[in-house]
Amino acid sequence: MAKRKEDRALERNDDLGYPIFVAQNVRDELLAFLRLRGRPSAILCDANRNVRVLAEEIAQAAGNVPVLRFTLGESRKRLATVERVLDAMVGVGVERSSLVLGIGGGVASDLFGFACAVYMRGVRYAHVATSLVAMVDAAIGGKTGVDLREGKNLAGCFRDPIAVFCGVDALETLPAQAFREGLAEIIKAAIIEGGDLFALLEELAPHPSRRWPWLELLPAAIKVKTMAVADDRLEAGARATLNLGHTFAHAIERASNYSITHGNAVALGLRAAGLLALRTGRFSRDEHLRVLTLLALVGLPLQTSLSPDAIFTAMRSDKKKSGGRLRFVLPRAIGDVEYGVECADRTVRAVLGRLAHPPENVRARR
Ligand SMILES: NC(=O)c1ccc[n+]([C@@H]2O[C@H](COP(=O)([O-])OP(=O)(O)OC[C@H]3O[C@@H](n4cnc5c(N)ncnc54)[C@H](O)[C@@H]3O)[C@@H](O)[C@H]2O)c1
Ligand SMILES: [Zn+2]
Repeated sequence: MAKRKEDRALERNDDLGYPIFVAQNVRDELLAFLRLRGRPSAILCDANRNVRVLAEEIAQAAGNVPVLRFTLGESRKRLATVERVLDAMVGVGVERSSLVLGIGGGVASDLFGFACAVYMRGVRYAHVATSLVAMVDAAIGGKTGVDLREGKNLAGCFRDPIAVFCGVDALETLPAQAFREGLAEIIKAAIIEGGDLFALLEELAPHPSRRWPWLELLPAAIKVKTMAVADDRLEAGARATLNLGHTFAHAIERASNYSITHGNAVALGLRAAGLLALRTGRFSRDEHLRVLTLLALVGLPLQTSLSPDAIFTAMRSDKKKSGGRLRFVLPRAIGDVEYGVECADRTVRAVLGRLAHPPENVRARR
């Protein structure tokens, strides 16, 4: 595999008015940033051992900053945890003018970002992203929040961080499943973006993803998100393109009682969106096959034993349906997606029926 951009130690994206740094190791950049913007009053971190080690290192280097650790995971992305975070911040004397640093994956950026948005009506927050999902998706765009009993991400607010730091080094310890979760979102971004990003993924797909040139890939994937968010902060229009595959994915997660993870559901959702686009005359069979091949090569699923009826029922109650009608984001081509598309129920059901069967002509995983 060709080595790329070895000379570029640091990438910086300012599309959203705050810097998103990508480097092999972001420690130096982070410390320089903190020297400029002030010593943080607290570091909030995911209690995961690898994340904790990183947090302790940064805390020491930044001048003995108190580290507050929380056992996270999706089941703890709840208001009760937010309350514990807020209490702990009071305990170490975080003030209205303080800067707080969060470290962890997407659960951490959603939950700590939300806690800092409401703590004393808002303290400055910067996030060190340690998972692929946090780097390319969750930590960017200002959506923060927690889950309620009735569903995921039902309580929260829009609040931008003052900076995001993505260190490729952190990915080395990321568990395989968490890694795949991120790959699903990156493939989604590549379908939206098309061009070089999709072609690069096709070239890399046969190689183990941990060895991909992340210093090049992360900024490209982040760019897709920042461009969609920049013009549409509150998700009134174009930001919806980021939901490609997600109307199906959310329903699949719910119908499986969350035994199918978000990333796996996104892969199935991308297949379903492609099928729906094919059936409604939008997408070419050849490009659909390229998408499926990419998903299969990185080990994402294309088939589920869930009943199509159960998925359809879950879809009907999806919170993203607007005006009581289901709307889809569908590809017209790799690099050209359309949002707000309404489709006949029977066509949607037919597509869901196909998910029970393997796709034809797709190469098996390496
Ligand atoms: N706000 C948004 O716009 C947005 C977008 C996408 C996803 N999300 C949210 O992100 C969450 C999923 O994010 P995630 O996949 O990062 O989950 P996560 O934060 O739970 O991290 C996954 C697992 O990896 C561990 N981990 C994190 N970094 C590690 C590292 N460097 N080394 C070893 N282990 C590490 C975590 O402890 C956890 O066990 C979901 O709650 C989802 O709703 C939010
Ligand atoms: Zn997603």
